[in-house]
Amino acid sequence: MSTEQHATRRREDYRVPEYLVEEIRLTFQLYAESTVVTADTVYAVNQQSTDCTGRLQLSGENMELVEVRLDGRRLEADEFEVSAMDLILVPGKDRFELQVVTRIDPVANTALEGLYCSNGNYCTQCEPEGFRRITYFPDRPDVLARFTTRIEGDRQTCPVLLSNGNLIESGELGNGRHYAVWQDPFPKPCYLFALVAGRLVAIDDTFTTRSGRDIALRIFVEARNRDLCDHAMRSLKKAMQWDEDVYGLEYDLDVFMIVAVDDFNMGAMENKGLNIFNSRCVLASPQSATDQDFLGIEGVVAHEYFHNWTGNRVTCRDWFQLSLKEGLTVFRDQEFSSDMNSRAVQRIDDVQLIRNFQFREDSGPMAHPVRPDAYVEINNFYTVTVYNKGAEVIRMMHTLLGAADFRKGMDLYFARHDGQAVTCDDFVAAMADASGVDLGQFKRWYSQAGTPVVKVSGQWLAEKRRYVLRLRQSCPATPGQDGKEPFHIPIAVGLLDSRGRDMLNGDRDGTRVLELREREQSFSFPDIGEKPVLSFLRGFSAPVKVELDQSREELAFLLAHDTDLFNRWYAASKLSEIVVMETVARLQANAQPVLDSDFVAAVRANLQRPASDKALLALALQLPAETYLAQQMDTVDPVNLHRGREFVRSQLSSLLADEFRRIYDDNNEEGEYRITPEAMGRRSLKNVALAYLMARVPTDEEIYALCCGQYAEAGNMTDAIAALSCVTRIEGRRRQEILHHFYTRWQADPLVLDKWFTLQAVSPLADTLAEVTRLLANPSFSMKNPNKVRALIGAFCSGNHYRFHDVSGAGYAFLTDRIIELNATNPQIAARMLSPLTVWKRYDPVRQDLIRRQLERILAVDNLSGDVYEIARKSLQAG
Ligand code: TRP
Ligand code: ZN
Repeated sequence: MSTEQHATRRREDYRVPEYLVEEIRLTFQLYAESTVVTADTVYAVNQQSTDCTGRLQLSGENMELVEVRLDGRRLEADEFEVSAMDLILVPGKDRFELQVVTRIDPVANTALEGLYCSNGNYCTQCEPEGFRRITYFPDRPDVLARFTTRIEGDRQTCPVLLSNGNLIESGELGNGRHYAVWQDPFPKPCYLFALVAGRLVAIDDTFTTRSGRDIALRIFVEARNRDLCDHAMRSLKKAMQWDEDVYGLEYDLDVFMIVAVDDFNMGAMENKGLNIFNSRCVLASPQSATDQDFLGIEGVVAHEYFHNWTGNRVTCRDWFQLSLKEGLTVFRDQEFSSDMNSRAVQRIDDVQLIRNFQFREDSGPMAHPVRPDAYVEINNFYTVTVYNKGAEVIRMMHTLLGAADFRKGMDLYFARHDGQAVTCDDFVAAMADASGVDLGQFKRWYSQAGTPVVKVSGQWLAEKRRYVLRLRQSCPATPGQDGKEPFHIPIAVGLLDSRGRDMLNGDRDGTRVLELREREQSFSFPDIGEKPVLSFLRGFSAPVKVELDQSREELAFLLAHDTDLFNRWYAASKLSEIVVMETVARLQANAQPVLDSDFVAAVRANLQRPASDKALLALALQLPAETYLAQQMDTVDPVNLHRGREFVRSQLSSLLADEFRRIYDDNNEEGEYRITPEAMGRRSLKNVALAYLMARVPTDEEIYALCCGQYAEAGNMTDAIAALSCVTRIEGRRRQEILHHFYTRWQADPLVLDKWFTLQAVSPLADTLAEVTRLLANPSFSMKNPNKVRALIGAFCSGNHYRFHDVSGAGYAFLTDRIIELNATNPQIAARMLSPLTVWKRYDPVRQDLIRRQLERILAVDNLSGDVYEIARKSLQAG
């Protein structure tokens, strides 16, 4: 594990490329274990470059170089240098054509980067640096080229041959082989290149753009999945319509294709005109997918489609700018989903992701700015910070500029940069220039890591009829960044009178957006005739932690009355957090826990109020996750944390049994299955009630029967999984029977089996790790399939805080074994699995020591990938 092997790349070292590519013609002769790739590339010196080394340096990894020709002449071995990572030659001219022939093995490619096989079909994943596993090329996003791709394959096994752009030619080759030629008219970086070949069927539809062009839409899947694409297709059409309506953006090719594959490292990929998806993000039916799955598919389909403009037409100059496309595109898909479904529910889901995962990343050894300054392996920076905090940064600009000026900024961004590879600075400049808003200080959100803390104190001055809000901001040190400059933070606030009415007339009815720029700043509100209740950070207007002492009475009041629906949920969540943490503290002090009766009263009142939005009520009833609560402890105590949270759950269950039962019965009628926000809200409320009813200790037999009945009779996966998930938390023979029933019923459906693996992995039962270990040997499990790894190993280690952190250290050893295994086959997934070990400093000395030893064991592995090395190394350094 030498450090030279794992070199650090720095943003400040950026140089424009010395050579650009005018066009590239690729030919693939597809054979499972020996595919030959011929790349004919026209290079020309970049006039913009001040380097004149005369050397052409092309990236390339994991392949055999067959031959190189310069303007037709075959180069001798001494005319170029080839290493494990690149090919260097001195062409001696300003413009030339290079032919590179390489041989690759798609079947042996378990890293799932470059060209690989999934269920016997060929597909590619080139972002960020996978193209260099296909041919030697300047594999960087600021080299844009016109691609023409010829694919030759076997007609039997590969009837479908796809690449980016338009099909311009196809035909027979003899010997049972055929070919297709695709041409993409839009210059693009090679990370957007895609190829798919295999035995697939197409589901077809069309979309007519607002300028009247007919676009052919095609989703390609294996024949067995033919009937599972309707929802994805509907989502695609909605996304196309939305981008026209909201941003005036039209699709630009004549065909838009989506391909679903089972083996995929992430969710999906926005390759130009040929998106490749993890099948989990495409396939759905009411019987086999939950409401969450339906929403997830709609969001991801939209996300990848939106990349066509934010990512493809305007792309990134270098990978440090990743959030330029990802933060912006996540913001766009969040807004799309808000418009299609419930805005408040969408916002709560997005904020929970930030609080549960991004805040944790931002306070650990991997903390990095939205635009990182340095990395060893760029794959490690596809993070919740770059994606989701990046989206929050865009959202804050939207708040500061207002919707109209934000749109002007987007228009200017496209007008200036269409066809270019640009930076986050370019994006902010377009926003500032279009609106006249000074975003100079705001840009610190891109450069400073860490979660700002805003300390709040409010005071009502009765005589002066004035309310004064004093805000103080700070930001903890993060690796490599000790002192931080103050951020420019939009803070949306409301003041409520004693009847729960808004007292401010703000920019958005009742809400005023304050702009906090100083370390300390006061805001004064005149004409406040009674003591108000403060509704702070409405809609989570900035990704900050808030320190504000609010009494339980005030929180209960906000929960009941706030006009900002997000803040109603926030009050509920804060209230439960206080109550759970109090219980945990009592357990730690060996005191008898008691449940605060005011809290029970507030929850009861919430249950009795006529629920206008059932999904919101369901969310308000859920206690914060253990992973979130863990962050609120100085030293994490996984056992008492779990016990405390369970105590609150079971107490609520028995004290409010009648209310939960009534809610369950009132919402149990399932007519024809619909995925409207109302129907989803009803199901989620019903299933939260069921989970509470089942949390009673000891288990109520009648309720248990009710739950089993719901499982047996469920006509949809949402209800089936909800019931099954309650059952898997309770020991006994029936648990085994139902799990077995589910397995038998869904044995042929890998996506549904992922749920089965996950339910067992997140169970709080004592033998869960033993069970998870046994499941590794289940014939349906495979370490080669990232979905399975996430469903079983990821779910146990990241989603079962209590059992993973067992003080024996068995969970840590188990994960380490798996990481070492994955390091050799799929480093990208191996590195992702490491995240629960990175925050070891937050635990007690015994656990710290156990985790540190495992991190050291990982670092001692031979042939450690850069991916795993970087995260393990940084985690240990933090100690
Ligand atoms: N650009 C993709 C997205 O967010 C992300 C992605 C898909 C990816 N596959 C990947 C990133 C493989 C790294 C490696 O839509
Ligand atoms: Zn993306």
